[in-house]
Amino acid sequence: MGPTEILERQAPDSQMLYGFWYRAFPGGLVGPSELRKTILLETPLVVGRDMDGKPFALNDACPHRGMPLSCGWFDGQQVECSYHGWKFDAQTGQCQLIPSLTADQKLKVDRIYAGSYPCEERDSYIWVFIPEPSPPGAGFTKQVDAGIAAPQIEKFSEKFKTAFLNADMPVSVDHGIIGLMDPAHGPFVHQAWWWRARHSIHEKRKNFEPIPNGFRMSAHAPSSNSAPYKLLRLYADADSITTTIDFVLPNLRYETIRAGKYWFSSLTTVTPITRSQCRIDVVACWNIFRWMPFGPSLLKFVFAKFVEQDRHTMELQSEGLKHNPHLMLIDDADRPAKWYFALKAAHLETKRTGVEPQHPMDGPVTLKWRS
Ligand code: FES
Ligand SMILES: [Fe+2]
Repeated sequence: MGPTEILERQAPDSQMLYGFWYRAFPGGLVGPSELRKTILLETPLVVGRDMDGKPFALNDACPHRGMPLSCGWFDGQQVECSYHGWKFDAQTGQCQLIPSLTADQKLKVDRIYAGSYPCEERDSYIWVFIPEPSPPGAGFTKQVDAGIAAPQIEKFSEKFKTAFLNADMPVSVDHGIIGLMDPAHGPFVHQAWWWRARHSIHEKRKNFEPIPNGFRMSAHAPSSNSAPYKLLRLYADADSITTTIDFVLPNLRYETIRAGKYWFSSLTTVTPITRSQCRIDVVACWNIFRWMPFGPSLLKFVFAKFVEQDRHTMELQSEGLKHNPHLMLIDDADRPAKWYFALKAAHLETKRTGVEPQHPMDGPVTLKWRS
């Protein structure tokens, strides 16, 4: 793939990847018999949970005449459209009733579907599998099989705490993701006296290796110029603290920190909402600070600060992006972003041709930058 292609893929209107699981919203936001609407990859959805508490997701447009099903009623089992009262099974989307039919009218109601999506609740979030957009004739199709479970956070002990936070970003998913993996913005965007000072910028070397559908920043000792890591080293009294960061298509960033028997594990996702909007969700699990009264809130405070700094930066960036300026990716700091665009292009190429995707990395490499 040549540099021009990479640059093209940088455009804010880059493609969204179908055929993957995406986070919809925190599971706590939808109670029994409630219907909640959301948009993932420009697909309007209505999400709820049935009487057993199991979440479901349906197209938020009735297959009859397009009325949003989120305007209808839900009894814990069936969703009823508010326009002509058609009823659909919440889990399968299969039509159960068309009130206008007379006894001698033989329309096969059960052949009609309201478009349902595989839906799972995991690590405090409801996830929805978004398949390739359906061909014409939708409205008569059963749910596709995701073929794989929704991603989850790796945990290393029985007991742990969980917290999450999210923020909407007015940029395309690509800018959201490369912002997430960009090491060079730290000293400028994430300054805070309790974290690190701008003048602490220094040269870093990190090892990366290819993994299926992504790349890994190999286990390494965390950056010495960040305060929380200094604290952690003291607290855990461990000889070694290692952190591993994986990026996996379409939008998953796993970070694992281990220090003796203590661990901290997070999964951050950047979800395309529309072509020009995305949302970042961070979910973290840990067994550190379990007995420290302010531990979890302190951690959440630090993360919230970070996410807000990123969100604010991208809000400003979106102004600059409005008129499609030329952009560039430089070595080595933007190499992970280049890998992301190449992985994405390879994935799309495989979808088109069926040929095995080519990984953009030949093997392990060391990248250098100052941050
Ligand atoms: S639009 Fe839904 S029942 Fe007619
Ligand atoms: Fe950041």
